[in-house]
Order: sequence, then C-alpha cells, then structure tokens
Amino acid sequence: MADGSKERKIKRKEILERRKAINEVVKAAYAVGDHLSSFPAFLKYQRNGLSLFLESGSGSGLSIPIKQYIQSLLKVNMEKRYGNEWSTEEKVKRREMVDPEACYIFIREEENQTHPIVGVVNYRFTIEEDLPVLYVYELQLEPHVQGKGLGKFLMQLIELIALKSKMAAVMLTVQKSNEPAMKFYLCKLRYQISKISPSKVDPLSEAEASYEILCKVFNAEAKPKLEAEVYWIRLQNRTKRIIIAPIWADERFRFFLL
Ligand SMILES: CC(C)(COP(=O)(O)OP(=O)(O)OC[C@H]1O[C@@H](n2cnc3c(N)ncnc32)[C@H](O)[C@@H]1OP(=O)(O)O)[C@@H](O)C(=O)NCCC(=O)NCCS
Repeated sequence: MADGSKERKIKRKEILERRKAINEVVKAAYAVGDHLSSFPAFLKYQRNGLSLFLESGSGSGLSIPIKQYIQSLLKVNMEKRYGNEWSTEEKVKRREMVDPEACYIFIREEENQTHPIVGVVNYRFTIEEDLPVLYVYELQLEPHVQGKGLGKFLMQLIELIALKSKMAAVMLTVQKSNEPAMKFYLCKLRYQISKISPSKVDPLSEAEASYEILCKVFNAEAKPKLEAEVYWIRLQNRTKRIIIAPIWADERFRFFLL
C-alpha cells in the first residue's frame, strides 16, 4: 500500500516535471521574439517573377491599417470556403489576429514598411497532446502571388522555425471545402490528417466536422500521439483490377461497413 502510494507520487512528480519542461520549451520559443533573424536566406523571396520581402510581427503590435488589411484578405480568401459559418468564424479570427501570443510573418513588396503587404502567416507555439507544437493559424496570400512557390517557401520557413524552437510538430486546421489548400498540404507538403482530427477521433459521427487537423511530425515520440496509423489493403474492384488503398486505423470499421 505504502509502495503503491510512493509509486503514484513518483509518477505524479514525473508528469509535473515533464509538463514544466514542455512549458519551458514554449516559453523559450516566445522569448526569441524575431524568429526570422535565424534564417537570413528567407528574408527575400525572388522567384517566378516575384520580388518580396519578409518581416516578423506580433499580435500585440498590429497597427490599425494592418488589422484592416488582414481582415479584408481573410474575407477575400476564406468567405466562400466557410459559407454560412463565415460570420461566426470571422469574429473568432478577429480575436485570434490580435492575441498577444500570435506571431506573424508579413510578406511585403518592398523592404520598406510603408510598402503593401501581399500575404501573412500567423502562428503560435502551443501544447497539443502533451507535446510542444507550432500551430499555423493562418497562411494567407493574395490571389496574384498564389501558385508561384511562395506558400511552399513559407511553410519550409515555418518548419525550420519549429525545429529550431524544439517543437515536436507543425500543426494546422484546414476547411474540408478548401480543396486547393488540402491538396497543397497533403499532396505537396506531405502533411497528414492527424489522429486528433475530428474525422479520426470519431469517424462514424453523424455530425461531420467541416475541418481537418493536419500535422507534420518531427520526432518518434510525437508520431504515435499525433499521426494516424495507416494500413494498406489489397482490393479487387468490379473490373477485377487490384488496387492498393490506404486505410487509417480509426476508419477501418467504416471501411468494412461500406
Ligand atoms: C494555399 C496557399 C497558401 C498555397 O500557396 P501557393 O503559394 O499558392 O502555393 P505554391 O505555389 O507554393 O505551391 C506549392 C506546390 O503546391 C502545388 N499547389 C498549390 N496550389 C495547388 C492546388 N490548388 N492544387 C494542386 N496543387 C497545388 C503547386 O503546384 C506546387 O507544386 P510543385 O512544388 O510541384 O510545383 C495559397 O494558395 C493561399 O494563400 N490560398 C488562399 C488562402 C488559403 O486557402 N490558405 C490556407 C488556409 S489553411
């Protein structure tokens, strides 16, 4: 009995120490301030006819014109993706935009701060499943700079910032209706639908969520906590062709019911 209580005490202590260590990692990541300063090669983007400059920012220091700019860019890019949910989502996004923990990367047409912004990344360091992660809240580019490699470049930078800050993964949320973004992350950047995404947590749910949580995991400890398990299965379709299809562990019951 005494041994059991001692063991529980030790376990509790270990859990508390681990949580403290994770909080310290997140605190250290914020303490850096300007995350771009470690990656000078990413200060300029000069490819595919674009000549752009990157700078860091924070949610607590946004000027009124920048807030208005972000709101209108979000409206242009996202209103139709959210449909009826937009008016509620817009309010949530307004709050997230100015959160003191929000870190920004602004993309400008000139190095000078008076020149127009053409895109923003809004990210935070946070804790998911007892792991320190970099969560991308927004990656928004103006239509005229899309499809020119800039999004991929920015996500490479985000992954470098996450690694340097000792994060276990990069995570983000994508609306299912945003097919171009889904393809961009899943097919091009090799993100995965996370184990904690609603479709994996409760695949048989009637009230299907309108979004997926995606992740790219950097270490072995984080994999079982964030990545969904994938099995490959041989199928024979009506024309007798063999297809090798992926099924995720949490989806196997739904798959067999179909
Ligand atoms: C989604 C977004 C960030 C992608 O950035 P981008 O600069 O347009 O994409 P890139 O030019 O870097 O594309 C990188 C790769 O993805 C591919 N890709 C980009 N958009 C794609 C699409 N709609 N369908 C298929 N592939 C696509 C490109 O062909 C490219 O492939 P390659 O490396 O083989 O050449 C950008 O288009 C955007 O801001 N969209 C509106 C806002 C939005 O939806 N944000 C995401 C919310 S979660």
